[in-house]
Amino acid sequence: MTVGQIKLTDGILLGPMAGVTDHAFRQLCVEFGAEYTFSEMISAKALYYEQKTRKGPLRTAPLAQTFDSDRPFGVQLFGNDPAFFAEAARRIESGDYLGFQGKIPDSLDINMGCPVAKVTSNGEGSALLKDPLLCGRIVESVKKATRLPVSAKIRIGWDRAHINAKEIGHILEQSGADFITVHGRTRDELYRPGVSRDVIGEVCSSVSVPVVANGDIWNASDAISMLRETGAAAVMIARGALGNPWIFRSVKKALRGETFVPPSPEEKISVALSHLRALIDLKGETVGTAEGRKHMAWYTKGFKNSAECRSRMMQAGTYEEMKDALEALLESNK
Ligand SMILES: Cc1cc2nc3c(=O)[nH]c(=O)nc-3n(C[C@H](O)[C@H](O)[C@H](O)COP(=O)(O)O)c2cc1C
Repeated sequence: MTVGQIKLTDGILLGPMAGVTDHAFRQLCVEFGAEYTFSEMISAKALYYEQKTRKGPLRTAPLAQTFDSDRPFGVQLFGNDPAFFAEAARRIESGDYLGFQGKIPDSLDINMGCPVAKVTSNGEGSALLKDPLLCGRIVESVKKATRLPVSAKIRIGWDRAHINAKEIGHILEQSGADFITVHGRTRDELYRPGVSRDVIGEVCSSVSVPVVANGDIWNASDAISMLRETGAAAVMIARGALGNPWIFRSVKKALRGETFVPPSPEEKISVALSHLRALIDLKGETVGTAEGRKHMAWYTKGFKNSAECRSRMMQAGTYEEMKDALEALLESNK
């Protein structure tokens, strides 16, 4: 599949996750086989105003920061005003908006799926699905503002009574979207089990741009059945990668008919520690350690005595203290 101008071999993408898919995590997922990564959602408006008022350290722009090791990389924007989207796109493409060393991303993605009330009550995220023409106008204005490929990530509708993914897909394509990701749930289904692969399939057969299928891919066989049942060009994995970047390798191996060897406990802890180190390098020891705790808890799920390790990590404020807690856990699992 070709996403924007980028040819993917296996078609396995890492989904955007707020508070999770920073550079450190994206880079790790790429090492394990993710072929495309996305920033967490970034407010187009915040990006605009941040530049206007610029007091103290930038908070929004760094979310769009990329380096070669996490590419291909798309910056995901959210909002509801085509003009703000266009301005954000222009700044991102110009590359000088960051105020620090960074690179221009490979594409821009528009968030049309976030279900959080704080976002939808402003008419943003999945609330856009209630106004298909506005979805089209947003993509059109970003396309006009930039030469970067533009994608959109949608849910299948606002609720079961208003499933309109096919209509939206059609409008997005007409408006110039280069690819479309479909999370097979409605907004009011949030993250409940049960993804409507049939609706994703309907979008796939009614548009000619590539469709990426998303939702509840927890292992390689979920990825393969998702591709088979929907006819999608690629799959996007989000929660299945938490504490488990190996999922990309396992899907890749399965697609090629090769055997995947699951990681040993030693490998899990070693990768967890290099993830923590990368987070600290990116954000400093205090923030990196604090943000690292949730990741470390995900890596250690399924270990004996992991609750005790988690509570030790809650007290830990440095890399060395986190490392001691993780190594003690490994020892107690031998
Ligand atoms: C913690 C968390 C944060 C998320 N943040 C975003 C986001 O910023 N933008 C977005 O489009 N989707 C976001 N999502 C949704 C995921 O990208 C994905 O569509 C959803 O989790 C379903 O895929 P999965 O079953 O593979 O997790 C988020 C999901 C989670 C769990």
